[in-house]
Amino acid sequence: MRKLTAGLFMAAAMMTSTVALAADPIVIKLSHVVAENTPKGQMANKFRDLVSERLGGKVEVEVYPSSQLYGDNKVLEAMLLGDVQIAAPSLSKFKKYTKKLQLFDLPFLFKDMAAAERFQQGPAGQKLLSSMKKKGILGLGYLHNGMKQISASKPLRVPADASGLKFRIMSSDVLSAQFEAVDAVPLKKPFSEVFTLLQTKAIDGQENTWSNIYSKKFFEVQDYITASDHGLIDYLVVTSTEFWDSLPSDIRGDVKQALDEAIEHGNMIAAQKATGDRKAIEKSGRSKILDLSDAERQQWVDAMKPVWSQFEGAVGKDLLDAAIAANN
Ligand code: LMR
Repeated sequence: MRKLTAGLFMAAAMMTSTVALAADPIVIKLSHVVAENTPKGQMANKFRDLVSERLGGKVEVEVYPSSQLYGDNKVLEAMLLGDVQIAAPSLSKFKKYTKKLQLFDLPFLFKDMAAAERFQQGPAGQKLLSSMKKKGILGLGYLHNGMKQISASKPLRVPADASGLKFRIMSSDVLSAQFEAVDAVPLKKPFSEVFTLLQTKAIDGQENTWSNIYSKKFFEVQDYITASDHGLIDYLVVTSTEFWDSLPSDIRGDVKQALDEAIEHGNMIAAQKATGDRKAIEKSGRSKILDLSDAERQQWVDAMKPVWSQFEGAVGKDLLDAAIAANN
């Protein structure tokens, strides 16, 4: 009888633990700041869907867009505390953890997205994925958004037009130096505040990709957008080393596979939106798009490129050379 009771007890305990396992999937919270109809928003949703299809019951991805959970200045801290498991801040937002990624903010560094892709997928770019490992942050992959354009309340054709104007920038010292180089006033502000700052005319302009300008409606509160392609907004999809190492290895492999596929999807959307969202803004008639002549664009290059020398020491000459070489 005692044997029977013990057997029943064990069977009940095993059932309970099976139920507990089934009821407790690993939850991956992915927090980001942009709208869902953007390359990053679409990447995140695709990742959630792929994980649900392939690992349903074992792993669950929760996506929090539009700074709903954390703004861009807090998300990495939250990730290191274990409140978020994956984030994808723009490459401009890692200054606290490494100076090397400042490379990506240097104005007029990559001639186009193909050059950025070549650099990111090459040996120097891949090495950067683990540049913050000692700080507990692991890069899982790069995601594209696109080239930056400058929007403003007045037409900007040459650098002198920007003199004295206030521009919102991401929290990057390179971007600060870039706007100071044209005698403008840079203000570091979270992405979630940009629309209101523009609408209330607390600032005169900002720089961003076509998809961010479109999806967050900046074009409705800015009269002009200069098609400058002067820099890059791409992302580093990151996790904490602690979380990543805690995953069972088979699950980690499947999660990484789903993420790689989601990034590929996001990159395809990025390429589409770079032209599609520009066209949509043009069609709206709300903001006038200014294309620069070669001579006008060269003036911006001449004014902003000297910023490189200020950051070469922190970034490293080897890295800078590798990025320049990716243009060919
Ligand atoms: C910004 O802050 O302007 C952008 O980097 C937001 C984003 O994540 O694309």
